[in-house]
Order: sequence, then structure tokens, then C-alpha cells
Amino acid sequence: MNDTKFTGRCLSVINDLSLDEQMYLYRKTKELKDATINGKKTDQFIVNDKNIGAYLVFLESSTRTKESFVNAIKFHNIKTNIFDAAHSSFNKKESYSDTFKMLTTYSKYSIFIVRSKLEGVTRWLKYSLSQLSERLDLPMPAIINAGDGKHEHPTQEILDEYTFLEKNNFNNNEIHIALIGDLNHGRTVHSKTDGLKIFKNVKVDLIAPSKLAMPEYYKNKMKQNGFDITEYDSIEKYLAQKKVAKLWYFTRLQLERMGEDDLKNASVFAKSISFRNEFFDKIPEGTKFYHPLPRNREYPTIPFSTDNTTLNGYDEQAMNGYYTRTVLISMFGGQLGKDFNGNHNKTIKHSSDFIEEVSAINKTKPEYKIGTKPVIDGIVIDHIGKGENIETIWEQIHNIRKILNLNIVSSHGVYKSHKDGKFKGVLSLPDLMQFKELQMKKLAAIAPESTLNIIKNSVVQNKFRIHMPPRIYDFQEISCKNPNCISHPNHHEKALTEFHKTSDNKFICKYCDKVHTFKEIWNI
Ligand code: CP
Repeated sequence: MNDTKFTGRCLSVINDLSLDEQMYLYRKTKELKDATINGKKTDQFIVNDKNIGAYLVFLESSTRTKESFVNAIKFHNIKTNIFDAAHSSFNKKESYSDTFKMLTTYSKYSIFIVRSKLEGVTRWLKYSLSQLSERLDLPMPAIINAGDGKHEHPTQEILDEYTFLEKNNFNNNEIHIALIGDLNHGRTVHSKTDGLKIFKNVKVDLIAPSKLAMPEYYKNKMKQNGFDITEYDSIEKYLAQKKVAKLWYFTRLQLERMGEDDLKNASVFAKSISFRNEFFDKIPEGTKFYHPLPRNREYPTIPFSTDNTTLNGYDEQAMNGYYTRTVLISMFGGQLGKDFNGNHNKTIKHSSDFIEEVSAINKTKPEYKIGTKPVIDGIVIDHIGKGENIETIWEQIHNIRKILNLNIVSSHGVYKSHKDGKFKGVLSLPDLMQFKELQMKKLAAIAPESTLNIIKNSVVQNKFRIHMPPRIYDFQEISCKNPNCISHPNHHEKALTEFHKTSDNKFICKYCDKVHTFKEIWNI
């Protein structure tokens, strides 16, 4: 097998491929599709290596994704394994990690294609299988997310973007697209947030009733990506204005992911996001409809009557699933990629300078002599929750004591700062002379912007200013609050919890991208 920058890769979300890598995939797809349609040679795409095993592990139903991958794998003449999920040890509560570790050892190199109800599974596998491959000196398997709950569906995104490019004659200067349907639960529209970045100018019209609206996280990301976005709560309202897109991307009501209240309103929701015959005269000439399919028979957002009209772009779109997935396997199988000369994805490096040693002004600090025992030798944590309301500061003090297990002689309180009159918390810990690194990290996560002073003979020897870390991870006291996330404690997978701070001070789960406030990440 050829070892390239594409082998051993994990595609959990579309952003796992750089824009150059995505464009390379689209160029190769065009070459393969043209060659196939014109009966030309396609050998240059074929992996042709029986040492490579592709495993299709579908833990949620699928027709298109699964069958297009099955056909893509057959094209490549590699070992095809269709995992029998219904009779597997998953039913005996076997962990994902155990299952995939075992499968990894059955081929010289594996490509896993995984669909699951749980979100973030492939990100977790990337971590657990990299440990296995290091331990047993095995090549890291490639891992492809074939749709995980309501999170993302990157290979659908690839085929969608390829289809839009094809419609635009491969000109990626601009796109104006309407996304219509259940934008809240539909993973294919979430993937558009990053997938559409291959176009230089992007205008997106979001059409959904408020209960099914695009989550704030994805809308914010679209704005950060420079997209011009406008929202409408029904097709009727959308067509009442003048700037109507010619590309309409529908997604169905995701009934299987809705709560009971939303299910009761399904027919009402369907009315505002389904195309009706009376709209025909109002859409611009040359409009095309796209849909990841399948349509729901009861609530088809695109009526079956449009199938034999020029509006139908979805049949060709579905066909592109075969070509794009064939090229993806060719890249991840080491056959394509040697002629790639763009930028690969960069690994994000997290800054570790959130604990900052600052100069300790050599003087006694009268405000530290508080409580029952003035601090002569010990630690004082100052500026806890400075500027917050008194209740929040008490909560932070309580959390520091609890999480850092500070059941020792000590005192604490909430005070008014001498300097600016703002409230702050102070916790004094006489006789405790040092904090371990893990404790410092925890303190940074619980009480960012506090200061930690080490005092000897009533003089501050060292002073640390503590900032919010860019990642908060691997503490027992935190967990993702999305019940469908692979790292949620209910699933007992033991995936290490990890949150990444966003530019607007929220915390997203590394696995499922659920947004949490700072308070929500804690279990206390
Ligand atoms: N579009 C899509 O993912 O369809 P399947 O559920 O049939 O795979």
C-alpha cells in the first residue's frame, strides 16, 4: 500500500479535509465521472490491494450512503466487510472502542465507514485507534463518518458540493443557495456550514419554522466564515421577497430525532417547508432542487410530481455519491494523492500559557490576613470571580474547595476590592505551600482570572495570574450534556471529555460539537 498524506486520515466533519484537499477530491471526481461516462480507462483510480479491508459498520439504517460505498469498494478490488450490527456484540453492550480495535487487527490496513445514532463516534475512534496502532505498530486505519446522529454527514457534503460545482460549471466564485427543511436536526445542512467554504462568496437563505431553525452554533460559524445569511420561517414568506436563490437544498423532517412535542406538530412544520404546485410560477427560471434523500413518503418536502421536471437535480446528485465516495476511498486507500500539491490540514495547537507567572511585589498584603488564621506561610487565591455578582463568587469559591478537595484549615470570603470597589472572592490556605500542575489547570478552569499567591514569612514569593484554558479536558467533574454524544457518561465508552473554548466564551464538545456555557460543562 502507498503511504500518502491521505492514508490513516479521519473524516469526522468536512473540515477534516483542507479546502485544497476538498478541491483535489472534486477535480478527481470529475476525471473519474468523465472517464466512466465516456468509457475511458479508470485504472489509475483503483486501489487494487486485497490486503486492505474496508469495513462498513452501519448502526443506523441507510440505503444511499451504504450502497454507494459498497459499490465504490467493489470498484477498488479491496476486501469488503459488511459488519452485521444486528447480531454483533454491540447488543451485549460491547464498547465501540473494543469493536474497532479488534477489526483493525484483521487487515494490514483498514478503512472504516461508520454510521451511528451516537454523535462523535469517529472522533473518539481516531483517538482510541491511534493508541492501538502505536502500541501494536500497525498502520493507523482511515475512518469515515457516514452520518452521526444530528451532528454531521461529511461524505454527503462532499457529494452535495461536487453537485453544486458541476451545476456551476466548476466555477467556485459564488453561490446563492436556499437551505429548506428541518435545519435543526438535519446533519447534512449542518455540514454546509464548512462545506460551502469552497465558494468564495456565499449567500445562504435559511428556511425553517423557529422550532426547526438552524442551531445558533452553525449560524455563528456561517457568519464567521463570511457567509451572508438571511432567515425565513416558511417557503411562502421566502417567495414573497425578490432575492430568491436558484439552488434549493431541501432536507426532510427528521422525525426520528424529534421530541414528542415537535412530533405532534409535524404536519404544521411540513406545510411551511414543503414545495407546493402553487409556487411553480414564483420561482426563478433555471431553479434546481436538491435533497440528500430519502424523502419521507408522508411528508415529502419536494413533491413527487417534480421528479419529471427540470427542477429535479436530486437524481444526478444521488448518482454523484458513487463517484465522490469512490474517489475518497482511492485517496484514503493510498492510490490517489501523489500528485496533490496544495495545503494539507493543519493540526490545531492549543496554547498552554494560561498560567502566567507575574512579578510578585515584595510586600505584605493586608487583605490576605482574613478569616480565623492570617496567612504567614501558605497560598492565597485572590480575585476569584472579580466583578461578578456575590452569588456567583460564592459558587466559584464553593467549586474550588469541592473540586480541588481543599478540606484543610483555611478561610474564605467575598470582599470589596480596595482598588475599584468590585466584589471578589479570597481563599486563604495557610501551611499549603504548593499546587500541583493538575490543580493549577483545574483552578484555571473553575476560577479564570484569579491570582494564586505563594506566601512565605508574610511576603508574596510567587504570583500566578490564571486565565481560562483554551481546552478543558480529562477532569472527572466535567461531561458533555448531549445525551447522544459518545462521551456522555450514560454510554460508558470512557471517551475522555474535552471542551474547546470558542471566541464568544462558549465551550464545544470535542466529539459532538454541542455548545455549552461554562456553567453547563460541570457536573457539580
Ligand atoms: N442521504 C443519505 O444519507 O441517505 P441514506 O440514509 O439512504 O444513506
